[in-house]
Amino acid sequence: MLHSALSKPAPFAIVKAMNKGRFYIFTWGCQMNEHKSEGMAGVLTEAGYQPAHDLAQADIVLFNTCMVREKPVDKLYSEAGKIAMLKEENARLLLGVGGCVAQALKERLFRKSPGIDFVFGSSNISELPQLIERARRERALGRPGWVMAVDKIPDRLEELPYLHSSRFQAKVTITEGCSNFCSFCIVPYTTGLLRSRPPGDILSEVSALAEKNYLEVQLLGQNVDSYGKDLQNPEINFAHLLRALTEIPISRIRFTSSHPQDITDDVIAVMGEENNICEHLHIAVQSGSNRVLEDMRRGYTKERFLELVRSLKEHVPGVNITTDIIVGFPTETEADFQETIDLVKKARFGGAFIFKYSPRPGTIAFYKHRDTVPSEEKQRRLEILLELQKQITHEENCRRIGEIAEVLVEGPARQEEFFMGKTRDHKTVVFSATEDLVGELVSLRVTDASVAGLMGEVISRPHSLPLPCRERVTVRV
Ligand code: SAM
Ligand code: SF4
Ligand code: F3S
Repeated sequence: MLHSALSKPAPFAIVKAMNKGRFYIFTWGCQMNEHKSEGMAGVLTEAGYQPAHDLAQADIVLFNTCMVREKPVDKLYSEAGKIAMLKEENARLLLGVGGCVAQALKERLFRKSPGIDFVFGSSNISELPQLIERARRERALGRPGWVMAVDKIPDRLEELPYLHSSRFQAKVTITEGCSNFCSFCIVPYTTGLLRSRPPGDILSEVSALAEKNYLEVQLLGQNVDSYGKDLQNPEINFAHLLRALTEIPISRIRFTSSHPQDITDDVIAVMGEENNICEHLHIAVQSGSNRVLEDMRRGYTKERFLELVRSLKEHVPGVNITTDIIVGFPTETEADFQETIDLVKKARFGGAFIFKYSPRPGTIAFYKHRDTVPSEEKQRRLEILLELQKQITHEENCRRIGEIAEVLVEGPARQEEFFMGKTRDHKTVVFSATEDLVGELVSLRVTDASVAGLMGEVISRPHSLPLPCRERVTVRV
């Protein structure tokens, strides 16, 4: 999952004949936000706008923002300052801000950052073309004003014409919002309560992707295990949805995030039984202290979580379990922190995102405790845990040396002349290959390992896959 405050443009390939302007999107936050950016790109290209390949080409800049911690919010304001400077050279340039900060702050954003031309909410993406037109009119009349479309509370499921940024991997939303209200988390306030998409819509979308030869879909929800709880039909739950999806001829199905309170034995059973469900589970534990878990309102204990890990490892052979942990939650003592260390040693996660607690105004923990652990202490705990997890990840990766793995080749690696891809259990592998293998499933022997991932050599394309056209033609000749 993308937990950094990195800003990156969404690469989009479609170019339409009509051009009302070029747009460039910065995305912060979770994978659901990345997917929303694909929705924004889809809405705009359908309305006649084109993607800009760099910022210098853009007439419209969109910020898709995140509020989960203070850092991405700070980043939004510093990037808005840079765009304000660009506007001095390009009078046409418009800045629109959407995503979770826009949803929460609404018109207050205009006061906080005067360079913003329009603001749109989490469920108002389809209104983008109208907002841009209005912002342009206001600009032409010399009265740039507060152009805004933000639902009071996001309570709709907006169906968007997503422009997928890959031709072989696609994200598919199954739920929006979250009704859990963990005491530290702002997400339910910025995305609204749980809303599940009807199963028929999800099945149709995945079938259409399979017909377009997509190899991998990633199902998205803040808590995928809560899928269906709002639909008032006991027949509909996440395990049923997964089983139905496995009937569709698509090689890989992934999903994120799972929740320790809501994952069922049935979901674990489907993962173990069905070949096209990948053996990776991202399931945030947050803490190993039962006292802290209760104060976080997470709904499980350390013992229940470790039992879950045991059951997963038993029923889903080779499963890679990754997690999120927060250090320095208010009132977390050294003894609480040691409980988390103990849990990490026992669970042996394949990887972990570790965060320093960031107080979020509006949340239960903020009003109950504010921020009691000093920042140097949070930093100390973060470093200890990072070091421990690095050691475990390295050891677990080294155990893979010699293994034959199926890898989906995603593109060039950072190392020149090398390519990278992902195993079924979501390990990054770097290997020597050629451009024509991008978007293909290959068999690969793991030859080396580091903390960052695996190294390997391609052995062959799996026999079960249809031969690529080129080879089929050769056979006929
Ligand atoms: N829905 C996911 C779940 O419950 O597993 C989590 C989604 S949240 C966007 C991603 C992660 O951000 C959380 O698992 C948590 O570790 C972290 N996070 C959320 N609020 C935070 C806060 N106030 N301070 C620090 N980290 C936080
Ligand atoms: Fe936030 Fe908890 Fe919902 Fe995850 S489950 S999004 S941590 S409230
Ligand atoms: Fe951030 Fe909103 Fe996702 S707060 S983590 S972008 S749901």
